[in-house]
Amino acid sequence: MSDILRRGRLSSTPDEDMINFTSSMSADKWIFEADILVDMAHTVMLHEQGIIKEKDCSSILKGLLKIKEEGIEELDHSYEDIHISLESRLIDMVGEDTGGRMHSGRSRNDEVATCIRIRLRDELLSLMEELSGLRKTLLEKASENTETLMPGFTHLQHAQPTTFAHHLVAHSDAIGRDIERIIGAFSRVNKCPLGSAAFASTGFDLDRERTRSLLGFDDVLGNSMDAVSTRDFLIESASAMSNIMVNLSKMAEEIIIWSSSEFSFVELDDMYSSTSSIMPQKKNPDSAELVRGKAGTVIGSLMALLSLCKALPLSYNRDLQEATPNMWRAVETTRSAVRITKGMVATMKVNTESMAEKSVLGFTTATELADTMVRVAGIPFRTAHQIVGVLARGNGNPNMEEIDAVAKDVLGECLSDRGLTAEIVKEALDPVLNISRRAIIGGPAPVEMKRAIESRLKELENTKTSITGLNSSIDNSLKALFSVVEAYTGKEA
Ligand code: ARG
Repeated sequence: MSDILRRGRLSSTPDEDMINFTSSMSADKWIFEADILVDMAHTVMLHEQGIIKEKDCSSILKGLLKIKEEGIEELDHSYEDIHISLESRLIDMVGEDTGGRMHSGRSRNDEVATCIRIRLRDELLSLMEELSGLRKTLLEKASENTETLMPGFTHLQHAQPTTFAHHLVAHSDAIGRDIERIIGAFSRVNKCPLGSAAFASTGFDLDRERTRSLLGFDDVLGNSMDAVSTRDFLIESASAMSNIMVNLSKMAEEIIIWSSSEFSFVELDDMYSSTSSIMPQKKNPDSAELVRGKAGTVIGSLMALLSLCKALPLSYNRDLQEATPNMWRAVETTRSAVRITKGMVATMKVNTESMAEKSVLGFTTATELADTMVRVAGIPFRTAHQIVGVLARGNGNPNMEEIDAVAKDVLGECLSDRGLTAEIVKEALDPVLNISRRAIIGGPAPVEMKRAIESRLKELENTKTSITGLNSSIDNSLKALFSVVEAYTGKEA
């Protein structure tokens, strides 16, 4: 079979090594279906603009439906990419006089950019859904644990008591921002480069608005040179995914630490655990370790994208072919990591006793004691900080006499003479009271946590409505495309 791409300009054929080096066929499986959509929309528009005849339009569309049915396996994999092998298959089916007209006014440059955007927007939509699921799971777990005491950490040292709900909502807020970033990326991904041809657009009277609408894009990209050459939307998406993975890796790290005997705050479900081939007693949090590890894969993809786009001259350069596999790797890895994290969180056993027990270790109520001295005895915070700092050298449970002795030393006065009582001190050292006093916006007090969880669940409902809106606007456009294809072919698309 003669190579429809090379047969004119080039005389020798590439050897296997060269084919393997230059081909994008294996990554192009990601865009096979998108390419058929692009071919269909372009063909319909070519006919509507009077560029190809109706009989050619319907034969091409029939051929495309057949190719879609046969699947990517039937294509000739010795071509350098999906676009040319698909076109070649079409020409085999319907003849060159018909099939050879499909690529009028088009280049693989605008074609591939359009395909990538179509596949990526679907991936972003699925990712939004997966992230919403994870956020919901975190919030549900939080609402079961608004009273579950735990030590909060800074520098991984016991710092102040808090609740497990407070900790989980912190992670859920990070995921909320991740969702916003993906929605932001989507708005820049869902723009249509088709009609830009190689880079200088085309002298054919194409209707770019028509293909945009048939393919469900929100807008056309306004400069044909920018449209074919930019991959900033990949960088932006991979960057948002890297951020997600960084957030997941932080959760994973905590799950790993919390599963250790030293902490024993949580126990992962067996489904998310592995064991050792030599130590029969082991239950290891491998899924969390892999989420942590896979963050490296996604960050690596972002680095690859940045490095290969940097300093590329306008417009299309083949370097860009190296970009997409990195994007797909990032997408696939991120989606599965979000899903697995959701499963881990939903099924993990929370050891509330161990958490509560450890919530006061390391004098975590020291800040509240100092604050109480300020509020009751009217001393400056810095002075109270010094007094409690000296007390912290002891057992972390100072009584009134010890407090007075240190205050006398530091301040020259007893705090019991300024209204502090043993009862007030006892309350300040109580972790439950510590938490209930922190009821301002963002604090761990159960009453504030319940409000916070409610408001986030509402936010999540709004996110879901936006995702449904985005999905259905694409679905409606594609339905319109399929009904046009059906009208020309008499076959269901
Ligand atoms: N496989 C190519 C890619 O992914 C498609 C575009 C080829 N364009 C070209 N001028 N060689 O970028």
